[in-house]
Amino acid sequence: MEVKTFGVIGAGQMGNGIAQVAAASGLNVIMNDIKQEFVDRGLANIAKNLQRNVDKGKMAADEKDKILARIKTCTDLKDMAAADFVVEAASENEAIKFKIFENLEEICAPHVILASNTSSIPIGRIASHTKRPDKVIGMHFMNPVPVMKLVEVICGLATSAETLETTLALTKRMEKTPAQSNDFPGFIANRILLPMINEAIFCLYHGVGKKEDIDTVMKLGMNHPMGPLALADLIGLDTCLAIMNTLYQGLGDSKYRPCPLLRQYVEAGWLGRKSGKGFYTYE
Ligand code: CAA
Repeated sequence: MEVKTFGVIGAGQMGNGIAQVAAASGLNVIMNDIKQEFVDRGLANIAKNLQRNVDKGKMAADEKDKILARIKTCTDLKDMAAADFVVEAASENEAIKFKIFENLEEICAPHVILASNTSSIPIGRIASHTKRPDKVIGMHFMNPVPVMKLVEVICGLATSAETLETTLALTKRMEKTPAQSNDFPGFIANRILLPMINEAIFCLYHGVGKKEDIDTVMKLGMNHPMGPLALADLIGLDTCLAIMNTLYQGLGDSKYRPCPLLRQYVEAGWLGRKSGKGFYTYE
């Protein structure tokens, strides 16, 4: 299926990154969020990222303008009727995602593929909120989206071969490398990454080391680009907690229990970079 207009639900850090790479690949993009200030902030972030590329001499100024001109924004989900492929990148919250898919089922033409950028919720569970489970798929981008090369592609039990083929082709068009995962809680990426981050938080909680030392061990000892606590702040501590809860509930093994310190931080509103405070403090 040829895709020309690409819808993105959510203009937050994942949504605006996905909109940017889709527009850069030549697709017309409609980026939606529930409030005008959210779409404005998302668009401003895309403009800032592209301007940085222009300033570094990696992109011509008119190329930046062309990419931005391909992105339309909206706050009414009904505008997704114009899209022929939609990726949902709303908060990692089942109730919110289920409602969005129920609404998209009504709004989008029957042939339209509905993808989710969920980082851990099984695709089959999301697909059951539509009448087109064969056209529901996971398209899981990594943060920061413009930089990270991977897209994890997840088929639910009912996802068709054609839906997979279209999604793989779109991933490559956006100059990303797909890796396929089966439909288990957390898929591959977060089944491995989040227990590592959670264990780093346990190390802090148990006083095994200071936050800087925990991060330094993993950065310099294991050559990770960032330490796990700094990475948790980048991902968002609320998202980390949501993923750990999905792993814990979905796999039923106590090794996936979220660290109490992670829960305390989220309850205090310390969500990482996006709230200005997490394990570290941000301007
Ligand atoms: N948006 C766009 N571009 C960004 C960016 C952002 N938020 N942050 C950094 N960049 C760009 C910079 O502009 C720079 O570009 P150039 O090479 O063109 O100059 C490049 O990335 C490198 O940035 P820096 O030199 O500032 O810093 P760095 O070398 O330390 O790299 C990093 C920053 C790319 C974030 C790197 O630290 C890294 O790879 N960290 C690990 C990220 C990671 O693990 N992501 C996956 C998270 S898990 C996930 O997303 C899945 C989930 O469901 C939770």
